[in-house]
Amino acid sequence: MKSLHGKTVLITAGPTYEKIDPVRFIGNFSTGKMGYALAECCAQQGALVKLISGPTHLNISHPNIERIDIMSGAEMHTACAQVFPQCNLAIFCAAVADYTPKNPSLTKVKRKTDELTIELVKNKDIAAEMGKLKHEGQIMIGFALETNNEIINAQGKLQKKNLDYIILNSLQDEKAGFGFDTNKVSIISSKTITPLPLMTKREVAEKIIKRVLSEW
Ligand code: CTP
Repeated sequence: MKSLHGKTVLITAGPTYEKIDPVRFIGNFSTGKMGYALAECCAQQGALVKLISGPTHLNISHPNIERIDIMSGAEMHTACAQVFPQCNLAIFCAAVADYTPKNPSLTKVKRKTDELTIELVKNKDIAAEMGKLKHEGQIMIGFALETNNEIINAQGKLQKKNLDYIILNSLQDEKAGFGFDTNKVSIISSKTITPLPLMTKREVAEKIIKRVLSEW
């Protein structure tokens, strides 16, 4: 089996925060645990890891991991665009906010009116943008969180974003997903669907990397 020695791995992790004003943001419940588990696993297997991370309480320290902290989806996109051309493997694990405030206020929004409408615009789809730039030999992995038509929707994202694998998070298991140390996923490629049992996020990371290496 091939190894990750000499390979550069880009990993996006955690949530993004989209500013409404200087003190408020739109975010989500992602903790970054799955992305950080992948970063640790890849580093321990010899890869140079560029971990592009949204705000999280997690710490990570390994000589092979360079952590690049960002706040918003736009900042994550800029960081990915810089790192992606040199990476051999890119794993898009972040829960990027789909929309961002169109005109964030430079001053704190005051509590005056009974109703408040915030106009949002679509954030760039980072995985899809990098998918357009993918060159020969690069492998891309995405994640998908679905509530209905899980497999069909995940396969759609695999194609649309030009990914080699998509990891479908199951919401069926109560110990899987945001905040938990365990996860239940299926590894989906264009040809196969491999359901895995409930396991720790570290074990999930190892299974994903083992699978990628076996087919690289
Ligand atoms: N993703 C990304 N940039 C975005 C949105 C998503 O890079 N702006 C990546 C995620 O990191 C993940 C994959 O795309 O690897 C799928 O994310 P998901 O939120 O499930 O899908 P969306 O494309 O946002 O579709 P929807 O929310 O409509 O299901």
